[in-house]
Amino acid sequence: MKNLFIGVETSCDDTSICVMKRNKIVYEKTISSLELQQLYGGVVPELASREHLKNIHLILNDMLEHINIKKIKCVFCTTTPGLPGSLHIGIFFAKILAKLFNVKFVAINHLYAHIFSAYINSKQKIKFPFLSLVVSGGNTILYLVKDFNQIEILNETVDDAVGEVYDKVGRALGYKYPCGPIIDKLYEETYSHFKFINMPKPEDKLSFSGLKTAILNYINSNKMKNIDINNVLIISSFQKQIINLLVIRLKYYMEKYNIHDICLGGGVSANKLLRLEVSKLTNNVIYPELKYTGDNATMICYYGYLLYKSKKCRRLYV
Ligand code: KG4
Repeated sequence: MKNLFIGVETSCDDTSICVMKRNKIVYEKTISSLELQQLYGGVVPELASREHLKNIHLILNDMLEHINIKKIKCVFCTTTPGLPGSLHIGIFFAKILAKLFNVKFVAINHLYAHIFSAYINSKQKIKFPFLSLVVSGGNTILYLVKDFNQIEILNETVDDAVGEVYDKVGRALGYKYPCGPIIDKLYEETYSHFKFINMPKPEDKLSFSGLKTAILNYINSNKMKNIDINNVLIISSFQKQIINLLVIRLKYYMEKYNIHDICLGGGVSANKLLRLEVSKLTNNVIYPELKYTGDNATMICYYGYLLYKSKKCRRLYV
């Protein structure tokens, strides 16, 4: 009997495959090309594609030792958004798999998978509607989630994504990519009150480039004047402000729609201060396990399974 679901994710620098039996994980593996990308201070798309090509083969061999591939019932794969070259490798691989075993190929938007990633391995029931904040290196979006496939964008960044700003500010201070986890660790509440920008109104568009430029200018002008800079002061005040920018928006939409259930997802949702501040808004907040905050195939498989189970897979290709 065919009873296995497979998820494939290659949208950025992580090559990842997961196999589930219903919503239970039976296999998951991710190989990251982070160490290689660190040499260049960020993700180099061409290098990411080459690494996917190599790593997907390694994961396939390993997976074949753990599962009976003939039991595959459906293939879920990230098709958007992401680096085109990286996506192609996963899509090509997943389509061949689906064709070979004559099963369905389902295209997944990996940002939607981030929305539901908090429910992986969780006992909490999914209750609609809820608000979701997806914050990563490439995206910062606030969603109103009405159903598995009824997802509305309420607000999204008009310029930089939050993770990108963490990385750029961190790099200006001499830290290694990705700088989000480093800034998270170095944060000190006592240094958080120094302000770089005045807060915009909550209903305004989400924008982070003003804050980024103000900090980079502060760092550069102090360096030019040979003034010592206090990294922890910069990091802490930067982090407080950027998290506040997110939290005031969340609060605004909670009140506007009278919704108190919140889900966080994406790489930046690992951030301790973000989790703390959002938990002050409501008791009904759910976060992904740390290993599911970044891009991973488990969330692709899990979201695909939720769509499949609720008969809401709209984009099926055989
Ligand atoms: O979702 P993700 O793994 O990849 C994509 O962007 O697609 O997110 C990576 C981003 C990086 O910018 C990284 O600096 C940031 O998430 N990040 C964090 C933390 N962990 C990762 N930012 C703030 N605090 C963290 N703990």
